[in-house]
Amino acid sequence: MTETIPGPKGLPVIGNILDIDPVDAVQCLGRIAKEYGEIYKLSVGGTAKLFVSSRNLVNELSDESRFTKQVSGPLAQLRNVCADSLFTAHSDEHNWHITHKILMPAFGPLAIRDMFDEMHDIASQQVTKWARFGPKEAIDVSSDFTRLTLDAIALCSMSTRFNSFYRDEMNPFVGSMLEVLAESGKRAVRPPFVNDYIMRGSLKNYNHQIAVMKEIASEILEERRANPGYQKKDLLTAMINGRDPKTGEGLSDESILNNMIVFLIAGHETTSALLSFYFYYLLTRPDVFEKAQAEVDEVIGRGPVTLEHMSKLPYIEAGLRETLRLHPTAPVITFHTRPDLNIEKTTIGGGRFEVSRGQGVVALLVEMQRDPAVWGDDADEFKPERMTEEKFNALPANSWKPFGNGIRGCIGRSFAWQESLLILAMLLQNFNFRLRDPDYQLVIKQTLTIKPGNMFMYATLRDHVT
Ligand code: HEM
Repeated sequence: MTETIPGPKGLPVIGNILDIDPVDAVQCLGRIAKEYGEIYKLSVGGTAKLFVSSRNLVNELSDESRFTKQVSGPLAQLRNVCADSLFTAHSDEHNWHITHKILMPAFGPLAIRDMFDEMHDIASQQVTKWARFGPKEAIDVSSDFTRLTLDAIALCSMSTRFNSFYRDEMNPFVGSMLEVLAESGKRAVRPPFVNDYIMRGSLKNYNHQIAVMKEIASEILEERRANPGYQKKDLLTAMINGRDPKTGEGLSDESILNNMIVFLIAGHETTSALLSFYFYYLLTRPDVFEKAQAEVDEVIGRGPVTLEHMSKLPYIEAGLRETLRLHPTAPVITFHTRPDLNIEKTTIGGGRFEVSRGQGVVALLVEMQRDPAVWGDDADEFKPERMTEEKFNALPANSWKPFGNGIRGCIGRSFAWQESLLILAMLLQNFNFRLRDPDYQLVIKQTLTIKPGNMFMYATLRDHVT
């Protein structure tokens, strides 16, 4: 006999919609987990979903012979923008397999190393901007990291300069993307008839913002098509020329466009938020700041930051891992039983909880990565020491999953890592920082990702007198 899975009682028709504030859904879901425990049930958008927050349950769900990624909730809504792209495809969709095969080498370690100079170019723009600002100009931390990561992914993946550091307003892609992500979140919890027939004003704006994003990506692709002799090997070239090694099949223009949009979405907000959260700890924990800066001084000194330095910053790297443990910037991943198994139901939790065919099981990463059974009573504390290479490699399987699961895990992980290490090394080498509001309390803002809100700081050039 399986157990009844608890959860707040919903209302007829609308289910638990009132239990989740779409503007703050991740934190709402976390609060419900505190009340109901490691697994609970909610009826959202017309279907009953399970929400899990212990490492043991997530470990079981990570078994790819039984479960796979489910594209549901906000992600399913994102298919309105990028259809069967790498990020939004169902695992059994044909296009996912071709795109994955074609893009894996283009995201491999060698290819990412080749992107170092372009990442350095964009990172230098941020350093220059902050140096010119001087110590009295308040910096909106998340906003500038968004400029950095958007420009880096656009340059490295499609050789396009968005020049965000040279404009007051960011590229229109960002505004449209933020609106689309926010609306996708809201659409996910509303019943479909409300989305399509009642909220007509929101629908019109949603479609308009999607069109803006597609237009920006189309212009880039058309320009590249107009220059067939273009030599540089970036992700766009890989998508245009790449063929499935077995079948010889390539990607259609529509698929290329969908994936360009995905790189721009998935490739910047998550990394920008990682850097912003890490900065929260640099700004509020003098011990962390001192150790991180001392590491940069010792390893790099005053000379140029090079590719070779990237593997020599263990303390900063541990801090990044610990940041993603406490604040997984893509905060949920959703599983369901593999459709090809053709089973009506299965169980998790040693036979205790039933999961029926097609039922979404959402892993709440913020809670799961603070599971006291793995991390102890101080799980909520930021302690880079617990994430040294040695300790990290010895962690129980699937207790740290900010990059998702298995074959559907993040393809851009090495990109994000190199980019983050590089910018942190350059910033710590050149500046000291202090919060604008010394009493700042961490506020978490959410779209599809989470990031710190309203965090401002001052950056002062170091005099390098040691
Ligand atoms: C998938 C997190 C950076 C591109 C994912 C998933 C997570 C994730 C959790 C799985 C999503 C799911 O199961 O629904 C992160 C984090 C990042 C980051 C925390 C930075 C700190 C990047 C970058 C890129 C990227 C820089 C592109 C350059 C993708 C793509 C997928 C993905 C295309 C879908 C892969 C597939 O399903 O085959 N990411 N990501 N991500 N990410 Fe990232």
